[in-house]
Amino acid sequence: MGYENLIIEKRGPVALMTVNRPDKLNALNVRAREEILAALKELGEDAGVRVIVITGAGEKAFIAGADISEFTGKTPLGTREMMQKSRAFDAMEDCPKPVIAMINGYALGGGCELAMSCDIRIASAKAKFGQPEIKLGIIPGGGGTQRLARLVGEGKAMELILTGDMIDAEEALRLGLVNHVVAPEQLEAKTMEIAGKIAEMSPVAVQMAKKSVKNAARLGLQAGLETETDLFILCFTSEDKEEGIRAFMEKRKPVFKGR
Ligand code: COA
Repeated sequence: MGYENLIIEKRGPVALMTVNRPDKLNALNVRAREEILAALKELGEDAGVRVIVITGAGEKAFIAGADISEFTGKTPLGTREMMQKSRAFDAMEDCPKPVIAMINGYALGGGCELAMSCDIRIASAKAKFGQPEIKLGIIPGGGGTQRLARLVGEGKAMELILTGDMIDAEEALRLGLVNHVVAPEQLEAKTMEIAGKIAEMSPVAVQMAKKSVKNAARLGLQAGLETETDLFILCFTSEDKEEGIRAFMEKRKPVFKGR
């Protein structure tokens, strides 16, 4: 499928999805969000793809938020429809493959929310983060109030959301908002190193692991532990589990097939 706002590039088992509206700092309009949804579905079903990386085009921005120009003159029902038909953030979490955010610049509003919906976040030292919606007289609507509080704790999330202040990459690292901060010229190599490592694992086990970790925020402890046991047992039904154990015994590298 051809996309207007996305560039999809396959690098072996890693698919690189670039939001491509650099003149608007990659702000997400409805069309871009719909395309992200479609691309996630397409890449999620592509057996050749094991890890998805998402980034922004140009030097300045990862994603500078929702496209503010689409916020004018909407009725409440129109706004609801706009929000519902392009739930790209939730789709990141539901994607069966791991999604890594490669944060090359501004990650504001919906950009910060999108990064938080990803499974791992790698930031360039020049990245900046924030939820500036309050300055527009609105609040984060793509999961920001929920995911930021879970990632960095309620107090710091509250401060960021109520002031709309931006933080730099080092502070984002201190808060636990990102996994790594690297020099801009090392961003791609570091991201691809992590993506490549995950791509060598059993896709069955990777999918079960992602689902189970996601359950930590969705379920209570008891239900989460029970579901983890079920997913653990499910891994035992895979050919990959046999291959993993056999390779260990035979002192060789396993070759996982995703079955
Ligand atoms: N929606 C729509 N357009 C946006 C945008 C957004 N979220 N963020 C940036 N743009 C556009 C600007 O309007 C400008 O377009 P123009 O050249 O046609 O005027 C272009 O992207 C470049 O942005 P500009 O503001 O000139 O760059 P800057 O370096 O001076 O400032 C930011 C960068 C990120 C600080 C500033 O663009 C900004 O505050 N953006 C909005 C962030 C935001 O509030 N996001 C949450 C939305 S809910």
